[in-house]
Parts: sequence; C-alpha cells; structure tokens
Amino acid sequence: MTHLRKLLPLLGLVAVLAWAQPATKLQDAARGPAAVPDTTRPPMLGNAVNDDVRRPRNYDTQPPTIPHRVDGYQVDRNFNKCLDCHARGKASFSQAIPVSATHYFDRSGKELPHISTRRYFCMQCHVPQDSVPPIVGNSFGAAPPVSLPANK
Ligand code: HEC
Ligand code: HEC
Repeated sequence: MTHLRKLLPLLGLVAVLAWAQPATKLQDAARGPAAVPDTTRPPMLGNAVNDDVRRPRNYDTQPPTIPHRVDGYQVDRNFNKCLDCHARGKASFSQAIPVSATHYFDRSGKELPHISTRRYFCMQCHVPQDSVPPIVGNSFGAAPPVSLPANK
C-alpha cells in the first residue's frame, strides 16, 4: 500500500505529460500536421488525365477507371450525361464502350430494359485519374487474371 502511495504522484505526472502532448505527434500523409479535431484545407482539384487510353484493370471485376475528363457532366434524376454516350443503345453512334450487361440487372438477377438503379450513379464506382504521386509508398501489384472454367 505504501508503495502505491509513493507511486501515485508519479502516475499523476505521467498522465499530465500524456495530456500535454501536442495532438500533432502522429502525422498523417493526407492530413499533414493538422491536429485531428481541425479541418484541413483540401488540395485543389487537379487536371484529370484525358488521354483516352483505356487502362488495364488491376483485378478481376475492377470497375475500369475513366480515361477522359468528366467535369460538369450532369448526373441526377433528370439526366445522366454518361449514358448519353455509354448506354448500350447509344454506343454505336458515340463510339464509347457500352456499359456491360451487368449494369442492366437488378439485385435479384432480373434483367431490366433500362440501366439498373444500382448502376445509375456511375462515379460511385468509375473514377477519373489525376497524374499525382501516391501520398504514401506502396508495393501494390496487379492481381493475375482469374481463369474461370468454361461454361461457368
Ligand atoms: C461524349 C461521350 C462520352 C461521355 C459523355 C462520357 N464518356 Fe466515357 N468514354 C467515352 C469514350 C469515347 C470512351 C473510350 C475511350 C476514350 O475515347 O476516352 C470512354 C471511356 C470510358 C471508360 C473506360 C472504359 C474501359 O473499359 O476502359 C469509362 C469507365 C467511362 N468512359 C466512364 C464514363 C462516365 C462515368 C461518364 C460520365 C461521368 C462518361 N464516361 C461520359 C465517351 C464518353
Ligand atoms: C456499383 C458499381 C458500378 C456502377 C454504379 C457503374 N459501374 Fe460500370 N462497371 C462496374 C464494374 C465492376 C465493371 C467491370 C465488370 C463488369 O463489366 O461488370 C464495369 C464496367 C463498365 C464499363 C466497361 C464495359 C466493358 O465492356 O469493358 C463501362 C464503359 C462502364 N462500366 C460504364 C458505366 C457507366 C456509364 C455507369 C453509369 C451509368 C456505370 N458504369 C455505373 C461497376 C459499376
């Protein structure tokens, strides 16, 4: 008991020191030195890559990234600019890659005569790219293609 009594002031000191540590000790690559409760100023939007070159996919079932600019394209309940070119019925005229058949199935697997609502907001899954260096280093490599058995 006496030992604990002697230790108490020390524990108190440790607690005070821990509390006094600036919250910026841990630096996050995306946030910089801003403390966790503070709001950071988001970086300016860059210049999206617009080279029209379709990019290889990194794994099976990856939504392909967008190789063209999409600034100002209207996608709301009244109009979907993406479908103006990418709808299956428009592709022969627009020369865009038609959305795949998967985009016309509802969640119970029923084929629909129109794009599925699950696939309406294209940029939930497809994103344009900026040519910026990654903020943290990584050694990500593309997954080897999966070969499915025939007739499956
Ligand atoms: C004016 C016509 C047009 C519009 C509008 C358009 N695209 Fe495209 N898109 C294309 C064409 C053409 C390509 C083929 C590559 C290229 O030329 O850029 C393409 C390529 C793509 C690809 C690459 C597909 C693949 O298999 O690699 C994606 C993903 C895509 N577009 C998504 C979108 C999304 C999402 C929108 C709306 C925000 C959109 N596009 C609006 C014409 C269009
Ligand atoms: C929920 C995610 C999701 C949404 C939303 C979505 N897609 Fe996709 N898309 C995918 C995935 C995953 C693939 C690749 C696998 C496949 O074809 O289903 C794909 C493939 C594509 C392709 C390539 C087709 C091919 O044959 O190579 C195009 C083009 C495309 N999508 C356009 C669109 C457009 C335009 C919209 C909006 C109207 C849209 N997608 C909405 C997930 C999505």
